[in-house]
Amino acid sequence: MAKKLEHNVDMETLVSLAKRRGFVYPGSVIYGGLANSWDFGPLGVEIKRNIKNLWWKMFVQEREDIYGVDAAIIMKRDVWKASGHEEGFNDPLVECTKCHERFRADYVKGDECPNCGAKGSFTEPRQFNMMFRVHVGAVESDENVTYLRPETAQGIFVNFKNIVDTMAPKFPFGVAQIGKAFRNEITPGNFIFRTREFEQMEIEYFVRKDDWEKEFDQWRKEMSRWMNAVGLDMKKVHEYDVPTDKLAHYSKRTIDIEFDFPFGRDELSGLAYRTDFDLHAHQKASGEKMEYTDRETGEKFIPHIIEPSLGVERTFLALLASAYRDDGKRVWLDLNMSVAPYKAAVVPLLKNKPPLVKKARELFDTLRDVGIGPIAWDERGNIGKRYLSQDEIGTPYCFTVDFQTLEDNTVTVRDRNTTKQDRISVNEAAAFLSGKLSGQD
Ligand code: GAP
Repeated sequence: MAKKLEHNVDMETLVSLAKRRGFVYPGSVIYGGLANSWDFGPLGVEIKRNIKNLWWKMFVQEREDIYGVDAAIIMKRDVWKASGHEEGFNDPLVECTKCHERFRADYVKGDECPNCGAKGSFTEPRQFNMMFRVHVGAVESDENVTYLRPETAQGIFVNFKNIVDTMAPKFPFGVAQIGKAFRNEITPGNFIFRTREFEQMEIEYFVRKDDWEKEFDQWRKEMSRWMNAVGLDMKKVHEYDVPTDKLAHYSKRTIDIEFDFPFGRDELSGLAYRTDFDLHAHQKASGEKMEYTDRETGEKFIPHIIEPSLGVERTFLALLASAYRDDGKRVWLDLNMSVAPYKAAVVPLLKNKPPLVKKARELFDTLRDVGIGPIAWDERGNIGKRYLSQDEIGTPYCFTVDFQTLEDNTVTVRDRNTTKQDRISVNEAAAFLSGKLSGQD
């Protein structure tokens, strides 16, 4: 009997679909693979870019109070000393003295080694710093050590003064950044959920101390708005108020936004109140003033910070899990058009009939020139198989050019979710697609 997974897809099914259809491949695969490293293929990279573009549009381009930056990944070691990461960005690590496998101490239950089964074989926990050390320049000495950034946030803090000086922002305002972050995780896993190299989308929103609770609540709503817009299954989204003893060293309050991933409920993103910890720390260490001057009163103050932080790969995984559908007859990805890798496919009924192919090619060029994103060209196999193949990668519409097209200039347009087919004029196809895209999000 066919599996009826509907909204409860398992990880194995998702990973296999991702690999088979060009979304995500295992990293360094021709050399036997590098554990927990993943490469995004042609369709995966489209989804990833769509997620980032949508976020950037929503929080930077459509707002007047948020500025974008793209800071260097490699920054001076002083940044990481001041931010507290060199001292405190640690996870507790234990090692099994029998098999020498290492684990994050807070992830192992009881005293049995999950790898070899030995009992009572763990060492005492020791603090392991998760930043990747690098040497800048040709000499490997202690003087030229720094780290790959473990969060994009610090690239924003070190540019706070630049932005205040050059952009004259009105208060409150925020700075946004999308970019790679690196963590030498002790226990990576669950596909792209926890890796050593990933991308973050972060906003540091600068507020007055007395306003932090109000702004924090506002950002809670903004995060929901974002998750809705990108197309997450909101029934699977939950808030977890992080207990005080588990907060990061800079935070006074954090809400983790959790998602019911196929492997269980876990953190998708975070909303933190970072107080004025970071700007204070950088002012103290650099000697540069990290103040904002109120234009009306002339009052100078160090702003407090609300930080909504999201992982791109975790959003990607949550999206696939939200979009996966299987009704026993076919599998489809119910992705929003804005994130779907292809916005439509053009399908000539038969590939060996030149007039059909020519007509289909004209339509393909017209749709591609609309500029709403990639259009697939699909002429392999029988028509039913092509539809199923496009469904599985989330293509919202298939335009089929058949013999009637040559007579009356109409095409069928098939809807991925309903499989319903309508006939529309070829001349209306471009407007149909752009209308769907703008109406949907
Ligand atoms: N600047 C705040 C910060 O970095 P975090 O909770 O450590 O906070 C933010 O990370 C987000 O980055 C997480 O909610 C998650 O989406 C993503 N993230 C963190 N570590 C990750 C990892 N090892 N692999 C993939 N994504 C990760």
